[in-house]
Order: sequence, then C-alpha cells, then structure tokens
Amino acid sequence: MRTQVAIIGAGPAGLVLGQLLARAGIEAVILENRSREYVEARLRAGVLEQGTVELLRDIGVGDRLDREGMRHDGIYLQWPGSRHHLDFPDLCGRSVWIYGQTEVVKDLVAARLKAGQPLLFEVSDTSMHDIDTDRPTVTFVDVDGNPQTIDCDLIAGCDGYHGVSRPAIPVEASRVRERDYPYSWLGILAQAPPSTGELIYAWHPRGFSLHSMRSPSISRFYLQVGLDELLEDWSDDRIWDELRARLAHHDWELTAGPVLDKSITPMRSFVSEPMRYGRLFLAGDAAHIVPPTGAKGLNLAVADAKLLADAIIARHGSGGRDLLDAYAETALRRVWRCTHFSWWMTSMLHIEGDDPFTRELQLAQLRYFSTSRAAAESLAENYTGLPIGW
Ligand code: FAD
Ligand code: PHB
Repeated sequence: MRTQVAIIGAGPAGLVLGQLLARAGIEAVILENRSREYVEARLRAGVLEQGTVELLRDIGVGDRLDREGMRHDGIYLQWPGSRHHLDFPDLCGRSVWIYGQTEVVKDLVAARLKAGQPLLFEVSDTSMHDIDTDRPTVTFVDVDGNPQTIDCDLIAGCDGYHGVSRPAIPVEASRVRERDYPYSWLGILAQAPPSTGELIYAWHPRGFSLHSMRSPSISRFYLQVGLDELLEDWSDDRIWDELRARLAHHDWELTAGPVLDKSITPMRSFVSEPMRYGRLFLAGDAAHIVPPTGAKGLNLAVADAKLLADAIIARHGSGGRDLLDAYAETALRRVWRCTHFSWWMTSMLHIEGDDPFTRELQLAQLRYFSTSRAAAESLAENYTGLPIGW
C-alpha cells in the first residue's frame, strides 16, 4: 500500500486530520485498532469550544451538531451559599457547545466512509519504521489477519495516550513533563433531564462535583473521589446522595434517574516533547493529557489536527516545509496554555487534604470571579478557547 499520510488512530485528532487532508486532495489511510462500534461508543468529553465547532462545520460535519448540539453561553461556578453565572458572550464574545465526543466521532467516521476514504478498523500490531528517513513505513495486521505495509511520506501519530507512536520516539530524544493529582473523577451518565440550563462546577468541602449534560434527557455528572476508590463501592444511591450534598443550593433540586454508565478516571497532566521526530508527527492525547476540569482534551486534539493539516497541505502545495518544521513549537504553545488553564481550574476546585489555608485561597479565588470582570474575562477567554493557531 502507498499513501501520502499514514494516520494512526481514529479518535478526534486522527479523524479531523483525515477529513482536512481529504478536502485538500491529500491521500491518507487511517488505522484504528478498535472496532467502529467501540470508538463510536467510547464515553469521553462533552464540551466543544467555538473554534472546534466552526472547524467541524467547515469540514462538512456540522449538520447534526447544529441540530442536536446545545449552545451554552456560560457556566456556573458554585461554592457553598453561592452559584455564580459567567456570561461568555458578554465576557469574551464566544460560546461553547455541548455535543458528546461519541457524536463527533460518529459524524467524522460516517463522513469518511461515505466519501470512500480508507479507514481500517480492528487492525493489530501497528508498528512504524524508518521514521527518521524520507521513506517511513507502517506495518500492521489487518482485520482478516493479513500482514500489511504502508509506504508513506509522513506518519501522524494520533493514537492517544496508550498508543504506539509516542514510544517510537527514542527516549534520549524525548522529554516528559507531568503531574499526577491525588484524586480521580467518578463519572456517570444518567437518564435524567439536566437540572440546570448550563454546566455547574461546584467547590465543596466534601470534594468537587460537576453537573454536565448530553441532551435534554441525558445528564452527565462527575464527583471527585480518592485515588483508591473502587466503582463497586459506589452504588447509584450513594452517588446521587453525594451529588445532592455537593451540588446543594437554595431553591434548587437535583433530578435523579437510571444510571446508564459509571467509570472512574485518574487525573493527570502530561506533556511529551518534541511533538515531531523525523517524519513522525504527534497530535492530541498521543503527546499530551490534561485533567478534564477545563474541558480542553478534545479541543486540543482538534487544534493539533488543524495545525498539522495546514502544515502538510502547505508542504504539498508549494513544497515549502516551514509550517511542518514549525508544527511542534506552534502546537506546544497552545498545549502549554491549556495545560496551565486545566491545572489551574483543577487546583482551584478540588479538595486536597484538609488545610484550611488552601481552602480559603480557593474560595477567595472563586469569589473574585463574582466581583472582578477582568478575572471573569480571563476564565471565559480560556474556557471558550483561544483561536486555532494562537
Ligand atoms: P483518542 O480519542 O484517545 O484516540 C486515539 C485513537 O487511537 C483511539 O481510537 C485508539 O483506539 C486508537 N489507537 C490506540 N493505539 C492504536 C494503535 N496501536 N493502532 C491503531 N490505533 C490505535 N476530555 C474532556 O475534555 N472532557 C472529558 O470529560 C474527558 N473525559 C475523558 C475520559 C477518559 C477515560 C479519557 C481517556 C479521556 C477523556 N477526555 C476528556 C479527554 C479527551 O477525550 C481526549 O483528549 C480526546 O479523546 C483526545 O483525542 P485523540 O484523538 O487525541 O485521542
Ligand atoms: C462532560 O460533559 O463530559 C464534561 C464537561 C465539562 C468538563 C469535563 C467533562 O470540564
């Protein structure tokens, strides 16, 4: 097999990259080790920045998003006794959209298959070779068990945190910066109409909680839990009791309903540099992970894909390599901005130990948003997303 770009991974990064390249007439093959059903059902992010929404529309996958996605013009920040609304259009002229990652992936997969562009599911033993030469190759075993080789110009490593791309960069050439947080998020999806019009991020001495949603009939909630917590110790009743306690607010009630999904995710910040080695370019979670408190992971993956696509398209158009050579540095500027924002939101909202000094600092910071327009503007600008290419 011969193609221009071999894309490893059919998550948001790989699928958006594939779509952008296809529209520019550049051939790519996407390899995915899971099944179509699996990637379309994998529950993850839910908040799309305005720039992500505009990009998805531009690449022809915005119709269902425009019909079913919910535009949110703000969020609530809550602490005991206060629920403060931030009005994003007023603060920074932008909004966010609620549309699950599952739906984004379904739309992108459908668009690619409809256009007859190669997307191979259930491949195994993906491996890359000669990435520091002009003739890199990718080998894999296809769904029928046949060994295959792809000759290509470039490899895009979009295979997430557990993929094979990042480890293909020699250890001596890479450097990792990371932070593990001493807590996890227990997330549930519930068949219950949201009890709020917009997301509630709640600080509480019992721990952080978040009321999110997926549709007018499906809610999504998260609870800060200890690192060693086990799912089996969290009955549905215990989860609802805890959500009621942490989200409590006067004259407000939480509507419960059947729990459709339950999971625990540890919180981590991780940045691996460089994002390029020879002919291998990393995008999305393959290179960086942020804790979900700032709702940045999916949006960052899409921003990387856009930058990388622009660079590849420029190279094929004029032969110029400037954007490709600059890709890693340009992408990392946004990555570190979002890494800081996600760390900052996480540190402000989660309970760590029982130090009263830290708690007062967190509350002082939260109150600052209700009194300072400058503080609120900064949060709004980061949450709704800096322009792509920033
Ligand atoms: P991924 O979505 O991970 O896609 C990588 C793809 O590569 C996958 O389909 C994988 O199966 C495939 N792959 C892996 N290895 C190989 C291989 N060897 N060969 C071929 N294919 C391979 N972000 C938020 O903003 N909010 C959230 O609530 C949130 N929750 C999350 C929960 C979990 C459990 C995780 C893991 C992440 C969560 N994120 C969240 C982050 C967000 O979902 C990710 O940032 C986003 O999925 C990144 O997209 P990606 O395309 O870079 O990687
Ligand atoms: C979600 O709906 O899954 C979600 C929303 C906001 C976040 C994280 C996750 O900050």
